[in-house]
Amino acid sequence: MSSQIEIKPYKKSTSSKKEQVALMFNNIAKRYDFLNHFLSLGIDKIWRRKTINQLEGLKPELILDVATGTADLAIEALKLQPKKITGIDISTAMLEIGKKKIEQKNYDSIELIEGDSENLQFENKSFNAVTVAFGVRNFENRPKGLSEMYRILKPGGKAVILEFSKPTQFPVKQIYNLYFNFILPAWGKFFSKDNSAYSYLPESVNNFPNGQAFLDELEKAGFINTKSISLTFGIACIYSGEKVS
Ligand SMILES: C[S@@+](CC[C@H](N)C(=O)[O-])C[C@H]1O[C@@H](n2cnc3c(N)ncnc32)[C@H](O)[C@@H]1O
Repeated sequence: MSSQIEIKPYKKSTSSKKEQVALMFNNIAKRYDFLNHFLSLGIDKIWRRKTINQLEGLKPELILDVATGTADLAIEALKLQPKKITGIDISTAMLEIGKKKIEQKNYDSIELIEGDSENLQFENKSFNAVTVAFGVRNFENRPKGLSEMYRILKPGGKAVILEFSKPTQFPVKQIYNLYFNFILPAWGKFFSKDNSAYSYLPESVNNFPNGQAFLDELEKAGFINTKSISLTFGIACIYSGEKVS
């Protein structure tokens, strides 16, 4: 059991965080892409591009995109021209949307399958790179999820993780807090029709370790050469780590 504070989407429910997260993303799947781009003013696309750029030197052949959702990061990873990208997620509704996008565009090298990041169905040392965008924050047991990512990487492999973070400088911090804690949950609630999903978002971000604290978690999972790159005044961050042997 992990010692992290557990933030769940539905306060009144007694089901596990994982079940609640899957339910929440199933509920909002149809509006997820629209809300993502609308609420982030389209910046999320730039963040995903920069995340994949971190793998350019590695030229990975086999990529696993964990918590792939509607597959936007997996699709962005196509520019690395890998042999195959596998995307896994616990939300079947998110995967359905992702599958439609992939079919429409004939992205044959992407395969989306159901799977749990904390118990990956792949053998040790199966992938050259593992990617996650806005997924790690939702894990029920983050240390388990990170060590699974480490386990399935081949030696010489690299993990890149995109996640929200908390800006610390005036006035971005104040504007961000206002937007993220008040405006975004209200719009999110209105458009997604899920009362909890967009209150859970700021709460889960507030409870996610910032900067070095998260790099420490990556190192505990076995990663070396860990690095963080702050994006857009610290609103998001790209974390990376490598596996030697
Ligand atoms: C905010 S969405 C991010 C989706 C996508 N990566 C993107 O960039 O838009 C988070 C996703 O993480 C998935 N997720 C959460 N916990 C998971 C777990 N333990 N295993 C697999 N997927 C998980 C959710 O179902 C959801 O689709």
